[in-house]
Amino acid sequence: MKLIDGKALANTIKDEIAVEVAELKEKGGKTPHLAAVLIGDDPASAVYVRNKVRACEKVGFKSTLVRKDADTTEEEVLKIVEGLNNDPDIDGFIVQLPLPKHIDEEKVNLAIDPKKDVDGFHPMNVGRMALGLPSYLPATPFGIMQMLDRYEIETSGKHCVVIGRSNIVGTPMSILLSRKAKVGNCTVTLTHSRTKNLKAETLRADIIIAAIGRPDYLTADMVKEGVVIIDVGINRVDDASRKRGYRLVGDADFEGVAPKSSFITPVPGGVGPMTITSLLMNTLKSSRKEIYG
Ligand code: GUN
Repeated sequence: MKLIDGKALANTIKDEIAVEVAELKEKGGKTPHLAAVLIGDDPASAVYVRNKVRACEKVGFKSTLVRKDADTTEEEVLKIVEGLNNDPDIDGFIVQLPLPKHIDEEKVNLAIDPKKDVDGFHPMNVGRMALGLPSYLPATPFGIMQMLDRYEIETSGKHCVVIGRSNIVGTPMSILLSRKAKVGNCTVTLTHSRTKNLKAETLRADIIIAAIGRPDYLTADMVKEGVVIIDVGINRVDDASRKRGYRLVGDADFEGVAPKSSFITPVPGGVGPMTITSLLMNTLKSSRKEIYG
C-alpha cells in the first residue's frame, strides 16, 4: 500500500508555480491576479476563501477579496461579477458557494466570463471539458488528475468506478477518466444513490473515486486486492477525545480498505489540499492565455 500524500504534492506544485511566477515577473510580465467574492458570513466559506488568498500570497500572485454582507442583493452580486469580468488586471475569479438563499447561483455562474472562470463551473467550460477542448477544470477533479499523473498510476484500460454524480466531482471525474488522454482511457462506471448493487460494481473496480459524503461508507468487503482508492469525502464525526469535539474522516473506512489497496489517499491530507493548487494552476493558465488564447 502506498499513501498518496496530497499535502506534500500540493506543496511541490505550489513551489513550481512560485518559480514560474518569479520568472514571469523577472521578464517584466504581469503578476497573475485571482479575486474571490465572499457573500455572507458562513464560517466554513470564510476559512476556504482565506486559504485561497493565503495560497495566492505564497506563490507570488496578487489577490483581491471582495467581501459583502449576507443581505447583498442578487443585482449587486451580478454587478460585482460584471466589474471583475471587465477588470483587465484580474486573470480569474471565483464566487464562493453556497450563496445566500435569495441569490440564484445559476444566474451568477452564467454571468461569469468563461475566460475568467477559474472554478470551471460555467457551462462553457463544462462543455469544453466534455468535448476534450482546452478548459478550466473544476478544482477537485483537476487535483485528482494531478495525483494520478504525478504518482504515475496507470489508468489506461482500467475499470474505474466513480461513486457520486455531483456536478463538481463525480460527473466531471467520469468524463475526464474516460477521455482519450495521458491520464484517461478508463472504462468508467458512474454510480449513484439509485445504483442497484454498488458492491458488485466496486468489487470490479481497479480505481475507485469515492465522493458520496458518508463517513466510512466504502468498506474492505467492497474492494478487490490492489485497488486504487481516491477518497474525496470530508466528513465530521464526533470524537470526544479531540479538543474540537470531532475528527475528519473520508468516505472510505481507511483502516479496513488500506491494506487491500495499491494506492490510497488519506483524509485529511489527500484530495483536500490539492483543490487550492488546482485553482492556482487555472489562474496561471488564464494569465498565460493558455485556454482561450
Ligand atoms: N464552495 C465549496 N467548494 C467550492 C469551490 O470549489 N468553488 C466555489 N466557488 N465555492 C465552493
